[in-house]
Amino acid sequence: MKIGIEKISFHVPHLYVDMHDLAISRNEDPGKYKIGIGQDEMAVAPLTQDPVSLAANAALNIVTDEDREKIDFVMFATETGIDQSKAAAVYVHRLVGIKKEARSIELKHACYSGTASLQLAKGHIALNPDSKVLIVASDIARYGLNTPGEVTQGAGAVAMIVSSDPKVLELEDESTFVTKDIMDFWRPNYSEYAYVDGKFSNEMYIELFNDVWGQYKEKTGGTLDDFKALCFHLPYTKMGLKALRTILDEADESTKERLLENYTKSTLYSRRVGNVYSASLYLSLVSLLENADLEENGKLGLFSYGSGAVGEFFTARLVPGYKKHLLPETHDKLFNARKQISVPEYEAIFVQSLPKDGSTLELDVEEDPNKVCLAGIKEHQRQYVIK
Ligand code: COA
Repeated sequence: MKIGIEKISFHVPHLYVDMHDLAISRNEDPGKYKIGIGQDEMAVAPLTQDPVSLAANAALNIVTDEDREKIDFVMFATETGIDQSKAAAVYVHRLVGIKKEARSIELKHACYSGTASLQLAKGHIALNPDSKVLIVASDIARYGLNTPGEVTQGAGAVAMIVSSDPKVLELEDESTFVTKDIMDFWRPNYSEYAYVDGKFSNEMYIELFNDVWGQYKEKTGGTLDDFKALCFHLPYTKMGLKALRTILDEADESTKERLLENYTKSTLYSRRVGNVYSASLYLSLVSLLENADLEENGKLGLFSYGSGAVGEFFTARLVPGYKKHLLPETHDKLFNARKQISVPEYEAIFVQSLPKDGSTLELDVEEDPNKVCLAGIKEHQRQYVIK
């Protein structure tokens, strides 16, 4: 049986900051942000867009009534949890109109939980070939104003339908993974911002990538030349390139050229959005699929990294005709409709927060063009609207 991604799409907030402007206001050379880090724009989420609304907006791009009849599992991958108990997946289940005979769960492991969801979905479909799984990976990356991590913030969500009729990508069984208990990035319950040792997280990302790539070669006898492209978790677009460069010498010249060219294509969307944590690898996958010219049946390698830390390398094949099932026009429209804001406007949005004392808040959703918005909080409950 084939199992894999039948549909995939993403959603980002309607506001962004240009990294040139941010660099100038932080007294940095724009070259550092645009080349050294590799980010052009950063998505900014106003209070009316939270992880749930972003995820629901992404899912509504792909879920049809036919899917609604078959989806019996909703998985929500995030590290921007809005509740210690209630699963964000339950809100998405309602907002997207999934049938009641379904499981809905939230998964957490820093930026890795989208991949954990995909592997769990694969197992579920193997046991229930007639059903479908809706995965949403949604995050708002916040490091704080004037911090080294600020340039790697972002916001957005990816939605995927996994089924036994994969029209885009067929997951292969080759997968290698590693866990290592380290403190490179974490966010204790009492803290609004993550604690991060940026340099150490870069080192660990590369170490775990080399570990799982080494395991993969040993286990399968595969080589870099087998791959049309490698896709990486992208906390910022230079990060995956740093990892890729550590193994490029294993490839012949034409493979090197192909992998570097396709790497660039895989970073185009992330360059305009920033870090979306659990969704980052999948945003780079959509960018690759929609912008590169890849042969049908071509093999892809995907590297997932979640601080704390887990790394996983897995492989997949492009399904013949996959291009027909992508949504480049939808995504193009989404990017083109966004509004650029100034650094002071971004800072003013950044310091706004939802009440923490249980008080009622009504948000003005008129200014927010997204279909699903957070309209406020009442009696400790988030109020969502579908426009
Ligand atoms: N033009 C071009 N490149 C420039 C430049 C310029 N004017 N000025 C600096 N650079 C380059 C540096 O050489 C460096 O490149 P390198 O990483 O290839 O060596 C890069 O820009 C970043 O500069 P650096 O001084 O290392 O940045 P920083 O100390 O501000 O921190 C991070 C960068 C990524 C560590 C920081 O943004 C961070 O902590 N991010 C959050 C954590 C994270 O994303 N971790 C990733 C793994 S999950």
